[in-house]
Amino acid sequence: MKISVCGKGGSGKSTIVSLLAERFAAAGKEVLIIDSDESNYGLHRHLSMENPKEFTGFLGGKEEVLKDMMLSNFTHQFFEGQWKLSDIPKGYYTEKNGIKLMVSGKIHQANEGCACAMGTVMKQFVSRLTLEENQIAILDMEAGIEHFGRGLDDEVDLILMVCDPSYESAKLAVKIGELSGRLQKPVYYVLNKVDEESRKVLEQAIGDPERILAVLPVEPELTKAALLGQKLILENSELNQAAKKICRTQI
Ligand SMILES: Nc1ncnc2c1ncn2[C@@H]1O[C@H](COP(=O)(O)OP(=O)(O)OP(=O)(O)O)[C@@H](O)[C@H]1O
Ligand SMILES: [Mg+2]
Repeated sequence: MKISVCGKGGSGKSTIVSLLAERFAAAGKEVLIIDSDESNYGLHRHLSMENPKEFTGFLGGKEEVLKDMMLSNFTHQFFEGQWKLSDIPKGYYTEKNGIKLMVSGKIHQANEGCACAMGTVMKQFVSRLTLEENQIAILDMEAGIEHFGRGLDDEVDLILMVCDPSYESAKLAVKIGELSGRLQKPVYYVLNKVDEESRKVLEQAIGDPERILAVLPVEPELTKAALLGQKLILENSELNQAAKKICRTQI
């Protein structure tokens, strides 16, 4: 199963990706996390893992990828055939306790251009990736919905939106519901950093309580661990249930 974890900036996507990945691994799944956010550098620290080499580098680097894209009028295929988890080249993933981590590529320099190269490579890669039943891939997306525009969400089986208590998240929950519906992908939500009042507002925006897999309050230990670049650990039964429900979802 392939899952995209999305939501507005700072809602808690990377936090939820890290916490869910641990639960999937504990349930015996072989987990691949794809860090598909070109702007943030700290996901590996949430997992207490080393960063791998950026996957765009495997294809010659961002400039080469862009050149291939432009010379082919954006039809270039970067991969041949299907890929298994075991096909990911050494150095382009790190691994710990049943979790593999890949990084699409980051913006490093001023004026280096947009992140289309990384988006195109990841869309094609995820499309080619064939997973066995006990394997799960989780994409930690960049903030917002550009990844829908790039077509990356068309390649996943399930969309999980993280909603923080904000007007923007309430609006985005509706929009992501529509976008997922058009792609015919099941969409679920995690309400994060909410209290009773904000929970009700978000529940109303989402409309269907069955779609809300977990509700998390502000957890000071998460804020502190994230600040110090330490591994994120959280006991939370709703998140355990959410992981189980995702694993049980029939695609
Ligand atoms: N339940 C929580 N309790 C306390 N702090 C949280 C919780 N969830 C996330 N945070 C904090 O909120 C901030 C944003 O979280 P995170 O980086 O996971 O969000 P994000 O959606 O991935 O952000 P970005 O859009 O920048 O990628 C971090 O400081 C994180 O520690
Ligand atoms: Mg993030």
